Amino acid sequence: MLTQIPVPTKKQISGYRNTDTPYYTTYPPGGAWKNDYSKAGFYSELDALKVADNKDAAVYVHVPFCEKLCYFCFCYTKIVKDKNKPQVLQTIDAINKEIQLYDRAFGDQEKPVVRQLQWGGGTPNYLTEQQFNHLMDSLRNAFSMDLLEEFALEVDPRTVSSEDIQKLNSFGVNRISMGIQDFNSQVQEAINRVQPLDTILKLVETVDSATSLNFDLIYGLPHQTVLTFSETIDTCIKIGADRLSIYCYDHTPDIHRHHALMDQSLMPSKNEKIEMFIMAAQTLISAGYEWIGIDHFAKREDSLTMARDQGKLGRTLNGYSVFREFNTEFGIGPSAISSLSRTYTQNVKDLGAHAKAVQAGEFPIFRGWDLDNDDLLRREVIMELLLYGRYSFSEFEQRFEKDMLSYFKGLSGALEKLQRDNLVEANDCAIEATPLGRYYIHQIAKIFDKYSTASSDYVRTHAAIKLHEKNS
Ligand SMILES: C[S@@+](CC[C@H](N)C(=O)[O-])C[C@H]1O[C@@H](n2cnc3c(N)ncnc32)[C@H](O)[C@@H]1O
Ligand code: SF4
Repeated sequence: MLTQIPVPTKKQISGYRNTDTPYYTTYPPGGAWKNDYSKAGFYSELDALKVADNKDAAVYVHVPFCEKLCYFCFCYTKIVKDKNKPQVLQTIDAINKEIQLYDRAFGDQEKPVVRQLQWGGGTPNYLTEQQFNHLMDSLRNAFSMDLLEEFALEVDPRTVSSEDIQKLNSFGVNRISMGIQDFNSQVQEAINRVQPLDTILKLVETVDSATSLNFDLIYGLPHQTVLTFSETIDTCIKIGADRLSIYCYDHTPDIHRHHALMDQSLMPSKNEKIEMFIMAAQTLISAGYEWIGIDHFAKREDSLTMARDQGKLGRTLNGYSVFREFNTEFGIGPSAISSLSRTYTQNVKDLGAHAKAVQAGEFPIFRGWDLDNDDLLRREVIMELLLYGRYSFSEFEQRFEKDMLSYFKGLSGALEKLQRDNLVEANDCAIEATPLGRYYIHQIAKIFDKYSTASSDYVRTHAAIKLHEKNS
């Protein structure tokens, strides 16, 4: 349990959460995957799953619609106010057809056993109750849901009502994630997402006490300062959110043109953003939250913290999970990603192309990657570092029958550098991130990533730390 975390200097932390460093939801990172992917790997993993002993799976359903545009948003979504538009109805029908493809693929064989079901987007509460129930029925036909443990859904507080939340409780949803971003009204105006505190409080009141409530926050938005963001953090603590995801704003106006609708000159500087994250981490830890990792915090009694303490914490394609390991994650809907043992695949984003593929009875995959043995062992080390901040050399030897230091050429040198910078402790047995190293966990993990060999941002981070050492 961490009761204190070191406060790095601005220079030490300046490489933190550098957008050039892969986030490692997958390894290899999506940028390395093939666009002309043959799908053969996907189909052979699907066949293998039919006869596998372990059929545990996670399912993610992507709903690519929202009622209002938030200027900061980078999610794959379309803003359609009229929910009866053919494009909307056709896409929901296509999602249903995609679920049925899995039903058909497994036929009479034992179905995958879904332990975790997540609805995201876009905005899942964009669906009417009837549409949601219809898709749930199809999911129950295609997969076994008897052992479902985690049933999670993202909601937009502006467009969800207390009655909707009560219904979600009764459907068995036990994890709700609300997009909060910031409670400050000036920030909310600037990002085109006005949601008064009273609205949130009313919704929170109706969330079942057994449900884990997550708030998403973003730092780096217009008008935010360390002071205003600290007020937002205090409000989250007062409301009693069980989990908090504190994201660094990813500003990509070249890709998401609506990002340019916000005045960049009103956004906090890089140093201010660093201070905001450090402030948030310190405040939450003092208030009794645990830093689960990267940008996630949870109350001590939350299932995520308990899973971590019992060594059961895992990562799915959609973030931290109470399940140690999923070999099988099905992503359904436009743009969704699947991970079946040794393959990653991504669904096509275009709504028309998605509908066309499933109508033709084909999984709507447009790119993917088959992992070779080297990818598999690098993935294991990277994911373990992101989860627990450590990896033991003997575990590597046991798992892969290889000596870790000889397998990864140049590892000793890279570790020595990290040690000098007080980011890791490494001995003959293991590599372990120091408390300071937790801020840099992606950069530490990156030394095992053969697809990001240029490591320009690690070099930048490293140079910044060196500079600090000289100055201090
Ligand atoms: C996929 S959105 C869906 C949630 C739901 N539609 C809502 O807005 O409440 C999930 C989260 O992604 C985060 N997000 C969206 N755009 C972002 C960006 N450009 N940078 C960082 N985080 C972002 C926000 O915190 C948002 O709540
Ligand atoms: S933040 Fe949520 S509600 Fe806003 S546009 Fe993105 S997905 Fe839609």
